[in-house]
Amino acid sequence: MFCLFAAIAMISHSPSADSAGMNGSGNASFSTCSPKVCIVGSGPAAFYTAQSLIKARQDVEVDLYERLPVPFGLVRFGVAPDHPEVKNVINTFTQTAKHSRCSFYGNVNVGKDVSVKELQQAYHAVVLSYGAEGNRSMGVPGEDLAGVYSAKDFVGWYNGLKSLSYLSCETAVILGQGNVALDVARVLLSPIDILKKTDITQPALEALAESQVRRVLVVGRRGPIQVACTIKELREMVNLPNTRPDMVAADFEGVTEALKDLQRPRKRLTELMLKTALEIPGEKEKQNKASRFWGLRFFRSPIEILADPDHNRTAGIRLGVNRLEGSGEGARAVLTGEVEDVTCGLVISSIGYKSIPIDPSVPFDSRKAIVPNNMGRIEQAAGLYCSGWLKTGPTGVIATTMNNSFDTARSMVEDMDLGTLDVSAAKTGSQSICALLEKRGVKPVTFSDWEKIDTVEMRRGEATGKPREKLLTVEEMLQVAQK
Ligand SMILES: Cc1cc2nc3c(=O)[nH]c(=O)nc-3n(C[C@H](O)[C@H](O)[C@H](O)COP(=O)(O)OP(=O)(O)OC[C@H]3O[C@@H](n4cnc5c(N)ncnc54)[C@H](O)[C@@H]3O)c2cc1C
Ligand SMILES: NC(=O)c1ccc[n+]([C@@H]2O[C@H](COP(=O)([O-])OP(=O)(O)OC[C@H]3O[C@@H](n4cnc5c(N)ncnc54)[C@H](OP(=O)(O)O)[C@@H]3O)[C@@H](O)[C@H]2O)c1
Repeated sequence: MFCLFAAIAMISHSPSADSAGMNGSGNASFSTCSPKVCIVGSGPAAFYTAQSLIKARQDVEVDLYERLPVPFGLVRFGVAPDHPEVKNVINTFTQTAKHSRCSFYGNVNVGKDVSVKELQQAYHAVVLSYGAEGNRSMGVPGEDLAGVYSAKDFVGWYNGLKSLSYLSCETAVILGQGNVALDVARVLLSPIDILKKTDITQPALEALAESQVRRVLVVGRRGPIQVACTIKELREMVNLPNTRPDMVAADFEGVTEALKDLQRPRKRLTELMLKTALEIPGEKEKQNKASRFWGLRFFRSPIEILADPDHNRTAGIRLGVNRLEGSGEGARAVLTGEVEDVTCGLVISSIGYKSIPIDPSVPFDSRKAIVPNNMGRIEQAAGLYCSGWLKTGPTGVIATTMNNSFDTARSMVEDMDLGTLDVSAAKTGSQSICALLEKRGVKPVTFSDWEKIDTVEMRRGEATGKPREKLLTVEEMLQVAQK
């Protein structure tokens, strides 16, 4: 009881706390006996877990350790530049980061700079929320040819993580029919006048302005009723200026008849697809003006990426023709033995992200590529929790991630209340971890350091009419942060 009162008294009298209870420094100092929790990552899962913990218990202190010098995970490096409204969640995350009981330590690669065991020694609980940094591979010959990218790398390129691009071909094939595939298709075909007002990086903008890509095929292994994208994203493709849908009507055989058995969201999505595929696409004027095409192709699995005569670059893709076994969303694709070759210079594999293990001491289910857990409690690892895509696998929008992170926080609070998570002994928290990092030559970036980066990026963006111009290298970020 004494500890709790002491902690509250210290919070309300903290000289660095402003009237809203913020510190902004990343260096709060508190009673040593309040529960200390650290979270690995600073994407939506990390921030929603932190927010929920801080709200549920008035004594808990939360530190976030992030690999990059900048926070927000896929909100910064995944969400498409032309979806600025989605990025508004950053405002809520910023409030959490500035809370007097929350601190951010960027530029700390957990698993390399500090181990999970070391974090466990310093904190009462460790939450792993480091997302899905790998990608599922197609497992077909030719996958490593030039001109073949994972969607993760391609998205990273236009969002400022990687430097790559090859857009000197007419046709691009995207494998997978989820929302990431549609993000990539839309960015490839969007008029530059739209993109130049977004936070897309300047090198990507310049490459897209010069792009030769005129036709984008989004290929699925199953049929129209099984696509993984949602209606808003498909409608954006249908309404994309200066483009025309180009579908194969035969792919939609029997789909009209199946509509009556579909649940409402799937039914509306399928109706839009049918309308787009079977009706004359768009008004005459749009059709005549359109110089770029996109199409969904169904019942096709990648078999091989075909090389050019020099065996250097992608010249096409061999697709296996599938038939479906079963019906509805659970139908399975089975190869028929028939193949089809499509000429293309760019292949983007958008068949899903994948979590990877970062520390050998943490249980990891390699088949499901998640950390095995029960409501966020990592199995056979007391004091270890997980949230976000690492917990569920790499699907779900930010709202889904928010809910699963709230569930993890609830499990933790329950465990603290029941005493199954022991928070009675004092822990050193960031004090000992920062000392360790210093010894190892790692200089963490605080939230106020990130705000310096933020200010520089927004100022650079202003000059060209963009919301921000991102810094592109970790070195540049550190230079600004540590000024
Ligand atoms: C391309 C793309 C576009 C999307 N667009 C939308 C959209 O428009 N709307 C929507 O609602 N949802 C969208 N989503 C889904 C949304 O991004 C996810 O639901 C959400 O980001 C998952 O959150 P997370 O915190 O689990 O993972 P992440 O956002 O990936 O965060 C993980 C964080 O952990 C950090 N990290 C990784 N390894 C380490 C380590 N070893 N040590 C320390 N830190 C580490 C990473 O740098 C990252 O900051 C999109 C997803 C993708 C892939
Ligand atoms: N605007 C937005 O709201 C937005 C934008 C981007 C992402 N997101 C969200 O982020 C999450 C991840 O999106 P995502 O597109 O990466 O994943 P996804 O929605 O799971 O889609 C993956 C696609 O890849 C296909 N696929 C998987 N394995 C395959 C294989 N071995 N061979 C061929 N095809 C394969 C899937 O087909 P099967 O169905 O046959 O498995 C599916 O079409 C989703 O929840 C998505 O909604 C949202």
